[in-house]
Amino acid sequence: MTLHKRILDNLSHTVLVLDQHLAVNYINPSGEILLGVSARQVHGQPVLELLHLDGRFNDSFIKARDGGHPFTEREVEMTLRPDMVLTVDLSITPFSEPTRDMTLLLELQHLDRHLRITREEHLLAQQSATRALIRGLAHEVKNPLGGLRGAAQLLERQLDAAELREYTQVIIGEADRLQALVDRMLGPAKLPQHVELNIHEVLERVRQLVEAEADLAIDADYDPSIPDLIGDHDQLIQALLNIVRNAVQAVGNDGHVAVRTRCHRQFTIGQQRYRLVIGIEVIDDGPGIPAEMVENIFYPMVTGREGGTGLGLSIAQELIHRHRGLIECSSRSGQTVFRILLPLQGAMHESA
Ligand SMILES: Nc1ncnc2c1ncn2[C@@H]1O[C@H](COP(=O)(O)OP(=O)(O)OP(=O)(O)O)[C@@H](O)[C@H]1O
Ligand SMILES: [Mg+2]
Repeated sequence: MTLHKRILDNLSHTVLVLDQHLAVNYINPSGEILLGVSARQVHGQPVLELLHLDGRFNDSFIKARDGGHPFTEREVEMTLRPDMVLTVDLSITPFSEPTRDMTLLLELQHLDRHLRITREEHLLAQQSATRALIRGLAHEVKNPLGGLRGAAQLLERQLDAAELREYTQVIIGEADRLQALVDRMLGPAKLPQHVELNIHEVLERVRQLVEAEADLAIDADYDPSIPDLIGDHDQLIQALLNIVRNAVQAVGNDGHVAVRTRCHRQFTIGQQRYRLVIGIEVIDDGPGIPAEMVENIFYPMVTGREGGTGLGLSIAQELIHRHRGLIECSSRSGQTVFRILLPLQGAMHESA
């Protein structure tokens, strides 16, 4: 019981439990925040009054309670105050326990998400223009670089004096560094290989890799009900590695990083609604992303880290985009969450 309550307490969606009289028995913290109320204050309050829903919902709720049928109503407007109108998707799931009356589980999904998604699409379009530019530039740099390095090597063979060879070593070393940078800018050269894979295998591989680099254990909280998806193994590892690595770099040695997976049903990405979407959250308790940077972190070359190239997130974004997914980020001091949303292929879109 306490575990279930803890899960509800930590959900980012709003969940209420209603008793058989349609009064609030429980509201989770996300709900308190969304509605601007406290759990104690609303305990026992009729839900229609709390959510400012009109009478027709009374009938739907009663039907759900008496018939045991779940229902979802999209884009419900709740006028909590004259200056506060929320648009939500509202789902009711009745459930009964052997010795108790029928209870209703009420979930609210706040639809300002849609606005965020539209902004995200806009961002993606801008980013793909930037990436095309970067890719063009990287190619231009790459070609002469090989010649430059080769010439320095030839020159080095002609040089007897060790102190002169130091100069050619500088040229070769810097050419190698540029080459590595340019290769990262160009992204994976291989054609994608789409196979059926399990997202948890990918995440476990990422955990192993990062834990081997850093002296830090990464927590994992996986939803075992997530089915396999079709995707490119290496690309997904690369994308998640970039994000988890950032989290580990942000927290240093004594912070916490957790990876959490969830399955979302009837979920919208961009303009498409998918039947099943995998949500992967990478959560850290580091200092957060500075407010002036947070809008730009997905752009290439934007970095707040000494020695960073600022390519990690732009590459991750592109790779996830190739899987028709997207990455969202929310950050404050002490909690940064990167949420990767991946639709399950085959579970194609249905109109909203
Ligand atoms: N979890 C996080 N916490 C705090 N800041 C972050 C986090 N993730 C990313 N950032 C910020 O976003 C910036 C961009 O990240 P990105 O991975 O694109 O580049 P980078 O890490 O600087 O360099 P690299 O190309 O080596 O990954 C980081 O430099 C950091 O300032
Ligand atoms: Mg990085």
